[in-house]
Amino acid sequence: RGAAWIGQPIVLVGLMGAGKSTVGRRLATRLGLPFVDADTEIESAAGMSISDIFAQFGEAYFRDGERRVIQRLIDGRPKVIATGGGAFVNDETRALILSEALAIWLDAPVEVLAERVRRRDTRPLLRGRDPAAVLRDLAAVRNPLYALAHLRVASANAPHETTVRAILEALG
Ligand code: S3P
Repeated sequence: RGAAWIGQPIVLVGLMGAGKSTVGRRLATRLGLPFVDADTEIESAAGMSISDIFAQFGEAYFRDGERRVIQRLIDGRPKVIATGGGAFVNDETRALILSEALAIWLDAPVEVLAERVRRRDTRPLLRGRDPAAVLRDLAAVRNPLYALAHLRVASANAPHETTVRAILEALG
């Protein structure tokens, strides 16, 4: 797609553990753009952690707040935005991202994702469950939707730096 993305916000989507935040931060540095993590923005807007939002208000409430925060972040200014794994699964949020940003799917095998999230697991959807089983179920439902992103980049069991380079190459 050459340089057609220039000026558009870049939005990273994909399952938990795909590296959206780490890769997004590094990609932004390389492109000289600001980086924002939608999950962090949601937490500061709500004044509470994502786990607490889920526990006290439920997932539907979280999804609605998530959509509003992402809508606010996509303001026409170029930047890199990391989203939570479920953002792009929500029909309205996905439509918004697809129409106003360049969506990049960081795709990795479930076994790789499970290994990564095992190391740092504060996510409400994984609490007390086997991450590999949860991720397998989520992948079955979500991968066909992530596939609607403008670009798909493999984020395999390699250093995140490799993924950053793959994205930079794809951006041209
Ligand atoms: C979620 C992923 C999380 C966070 C919330 C729900 C999901 O973000 O938004 O726990 O539905 O996949 P990460 O993908 O950054 O872990």
